[in-house]
Amino acid sequence: MKHLLKMLDLTAQEITDILDLADQLKYELKHGIPHPHLKGKTLGMIFQKASTRTRVSFETGMYQLGGYPLFLSSNDLQIGRGEPVQDTARVLSRYLSGIMIRTFEQSEVEALAEYGSIPIINGLTDFCHPCQVLADLMTIREFKGSFDGLKMCFIGDGNNMANSLIVGCLKVGMAVSVACPDDYQPPKEILDFANQYDCFELTNSPAKAAENADVLITDVWASMGQEGEAEKRKKAFAGYQINDELMSLAKSDAMVLHCLPAHREEEITEKVFEAHAKEIFEEAENRLHAQKAVMVKLMA
Ligand code: CP
Ligand code: NVA
Repeated sequence: MKHLLKMLDLTAQEITDILDLADQLKYELKHGIPHPHLKGKTLGMIFQKASTRTRVSFETGMYQLGGYPLFLSSNDLQIGRGEPVQDTARVLSRYLSGIMIRTFEQSEVEALAEYGSIPIINGLTDFCHPCQVLADLMTIREFKGSFDGLKMCFIGDGNNMANSLIVGCLKVGMAVSVACPDDYQPPKEILDFANQYDCFELTNSPAKAAENADVLITDVWASMGQEGEAEKRKKAFAGYQINDELMSLAKSDAMVLHCLPAHREEEITEKVFEAHAKEIFEEAENRLHAQKAVMVKLMA
């Protein structure tokens, strides 16, 4: 494993290895056991979109590993004034040990990896969010003990979160059921992958998807960059909400995850959100541990 660009690139074994290391690093942090695997290393963090969790967890995680994080807002980089990503990659490769990037186009992340000579970590694109889904898988395994026999149900937009969840959950052996409005399905590349699995189902019925689910997951209806479509999307996604009625169709011990930020009373009710706050905020914490594991795998 040279980079973390998308879940499609990882083998099931690589995912398991990251999760095992993440569990170990979480244990070490909780017990005050130092783990300076990245002493003397530097991570550049390029942000073309806003972030709370990704920025703070990468920055803190790098510090805990003995390395040094640099926050690089694209507003201040020449990339924001049009310097090609190919040149940025070759320059930053001469200063840094690794780059985390949050941007719009997946092709930009792939170009950084192609032209640079250091590990590249995708901190979210319009296409996928692998760091989040590694944390989600870590959380599911933590609460359920293993992935065996579990069904993950995603309700909402066929967006970056849906894409990475579909691939990640299928790769670790879970059944996956996704409910999206017809005009908001995941892209062909993801569906082509998923349709190789008998345990994958795509429907426009949230009730059908939620049936007997062990894990229910949703995300905002309008992602970063889609703010202008918010009203249109509110109409399209009406009915695609995780609420008590939907929860009653899932297993009685079903867990709920949300990558956050959440829009209460849109994709999830306040009541369901608060009833599952324990899982949702453990999931947010696990961003830290999962990303530290990724950085150690790629940069140590
Ligand atoms: N879930 C997530 O990536 O959060 P941020 O946008 O705050 O980084
Ligand atoms: N789909 C959301 C995820 C935020 C973490 C977005 O891209 O804005």
